[in-house]
Amino acid sequence: MLASSLNSITRAASLSRSSFSSCSPSSSSSSSSKAAFLYSSKKTQFFSSGFVGKTDKIIVGKSKSKKLLSTSSMTTADASKYTIADQPLRFANGKKENNTRMLDIDAIYDGSFLKGKRVLVTGANRGIGLALAKELNDKGAFILGTCRKTSDDLSALSNTQVIENCEITDEKSIANAFKEITEPVDIVINNAGYFYEPLETLDSMNFEEELKMIDICAVGPLRVVKVLRDMKLLKTDGTCKIAMITSQGGSISWREVQNPDGHDYGHHMSKAAANMGSKLLAQELKKEKIAVQILHPGFNKTGMTQKYEKIWEIEGAVDASVGAKRVMHEISLMDVDKYNGLFINCEDGLQIPW
Ligand SMILES: NC(=O)c1ccc[n+]([C@@H]2O[C@H](COP(=O)([O-])OP(=O)(O)OC[C@H]3O[C@@H](n4cnc5c(N)ncnc54)[C@H](OP(=O)(O)O)[C@@H]3O)[C@@H](O)[C@H]2O)c1
Repeated sequence: MLASSLNSITRAASLSRSSFSSCSPSSSSSSSSKAAFLYSSKKTQFFSSGFVGKTDKIIVGKSKSKKLLSTSSMTTADASKYTIADQPLRFANGKKENNTRMLDIDAIYDGSFLKGKRVLVTGANRGIGLALAKELNDKGAFILGTCRKTSDDLSALSNTQVIENCEITDEKSIANAFKEITEPVDIVINNAGYFYEPLETLDSMNFEEELKMIDICAVGPLRVVKVLRDMKLLKTDGTCKIAMITSQGGSISWREVQNPDGHDYGHHMSKAAANMGSKLLAQELKKEKIAVQILHPGFNKTGMTQKYEKIWEIEGAVDASVGAKRVMHEISLMDVDKYNGLFINCEDGLQIPW
């Protein structure tokens, strides 16, 4: 299985690179001298998908390198709580271990908790947001689907209030749109996000786009929560949950593995800032008994990741309907007193190091 993955990786590596993922040695492989890992046959260096030069050949070897990268100083006990940075290896391991949590979310997910709940989803018109709205609809929730402009798919859903003209970079726009909400919500899913299409390197930096990503992905969700709270639209009975959809791209610890050559400055900065904002939110809101969890939704086949289409299958990308169930499963587990303020990978339910 690994050999066939490698063929695909070798194929894909020369085609594109993924900012959502990588095919370099994982933190777990670096902690075990027995773990198989990928390295260049030409030099001891680690690659992420597409960073592999055309003349480099990827082979499988044992961990003998002196330069193995550790993504954190975790203890062994801590490591069991954490997922690994190397996405292709994570996915290959999941298949090898027949990991039900990763491969068959239907086998463990129970969405019955959503029945009758009022759930606000930002960016509900397409991608993961639309898939979340459809899943909520399927489980009998009432959806408040916010967007800048609706889509046919969103408008076609029953039990849904479509809230248009909600531009999350503009507090007034949000406040105006939320005037349409008549009762407090049980769950908020801050999903809307933006990933500038071209690769950002020192030679191709786009500062305007960087600030736009930070505005949308990091500050936008805070605006949404602030306005909802100001307008008394968050349930205050101790059961309210806020899911912050960020990304593994926001993990600073994982950059050595996932971005050995840097790049994608704006996107990853925006998600790291989103993580920080979300953690602070979790700290501030816990006294109000509002739970906040920080969720990487996994690698999903959406418009945002279309540019990585060639590595979708290698790196375990799923249809957004599957990603939506994984997100909902994690939301079902949220608990302000026991399981809160954590950065979770919805693919396997394990934590991602900051
Ligand atoms: N797909 C993945 O594999 C993946 C992996 C990690 C994290 N994520 C995160 O998951 C979330 C959803 O991603 P996706 O793949 O579904 O992306 P997508 O298909 O590109 O959808 C992005 C959504 O965000 C909305 N949005 C963008 N800018 C906005 C703004 N200024 N105000 C209001 N809404 C705005 C878009 O609305 P418009 O239609 O109006 O543009 C759209 O609904 C994002 O936060 C993303 O970073 C995704």
